[in-house]
Amino acid sequence: MPPRMQGKRVIVIGGSSGIGFAVAQGALADGAEVVIGSSHTDKVERATARLGGKASGATVDVRDEMSVAAFFNRAGAFDHLVFTAGDWGGFRAPRATAELDLASAGDLFTVRFWGAVSAMKHALGGIASDGSITVTNGVVAHRPRKGAPLSTAMAGAIEHLVRGMAVDLAPIRVNVVCPGLVLTEAWSGTPQAERDERLRRMVSHQPLARAADPHEIAEAYLHLMCASYTTGQVLIVDGGRTLI
Ligand SMILES: NC(=O)c1ccc[n+]([C@@H]2O[C@H](COP(=O)([O-])OP(=O)(O)OC[C@H]3O[C@@H](n4cnc5c(N)ncnc54)[C@H](OP(=O)(O)O)[C@@H]3O)[C@@H](O)[C@H]2O)c1
Repeated sequence: MPPRMQGKRVIVIGGSSGIGFAVAQGALADGAEVVIGSSHTDKVERATARLGGKASGATVDVRDEMSVAAFFNRAGAFDHLVFTAGDWGGFRAPRATAELDLASAGDLFTVRFWGAVSAMKHALGGIASDGSITVTNGVVAHRPRKGAPLSTAMAGAIEHLVRGMAVDLAPIRVNVVCPGLVLTEAWSGTPQAERDERLRRMVSHQPLARAADPHEIAEAYLHLMCASYTTGQVLIVDGGRTLI
């Protein structure tokens, strides 16, 4: 049997690191041609070189609609879009609602929500009608944390965006992967001892009491790209975190 993504072109925005990089590796292994994009040219170049094979890359900043439009113009025709671009919009640490700076609170939505909307809009010029779009949120959508109500709102909004887009963009399929804790470069700024202790506390109650490897999350994106009758769905991959 030929690899399941033979002859397909896959674009991964956020593919220079973490979950997106693992998706790019998985799609290449499944026979696809892959184009990655992210905002730092050096990261795109390093990741493209590491991917090798049928991978290429280009710089795109999803905070800037012109940049997104130019990226898709250059990319041409393709089959599947994966969007894993993420930052923390200055909101990584918990903060009290009474102290919210409303002028900057919207920043949390800039990359992960509005960036996804921008990518969906500009993907339409090149995506195949039997293709798919898979975006990303996180289990904070379902398990709110003290000090992070806006993160829950943003992650929940992505799920409802996907439900709306699945209807609006049909027959293009639109889905979202909702990861639990994943050991990616996003954690590399945290000193190892502190990181290990925080992760231990965060995952100890889970049925699978560990953080995920990015490849375990990438499987969900690869499945959704190939799942030709699945649209408007949230695929939670969280080691059972949301069960208890
Ligand atoms: N890791 C976890 O535990 C976890 C859990 C739940 C949900 N998630 C979500 O999953 C997504 C991916 O997380 P990750 O852990 O893989 O993070 P990561 O390793 O930090 O990767 C994030 C990617 O997004 C790109 N990016 C950031 N800002 C961008 C922009 N303005 N324009 C284009 N690309 C941009 C980054 O590259 P550049 O810096 O070059 O732009 C990088 O390629 C995020 O939305 C995150 O919130 C992660």
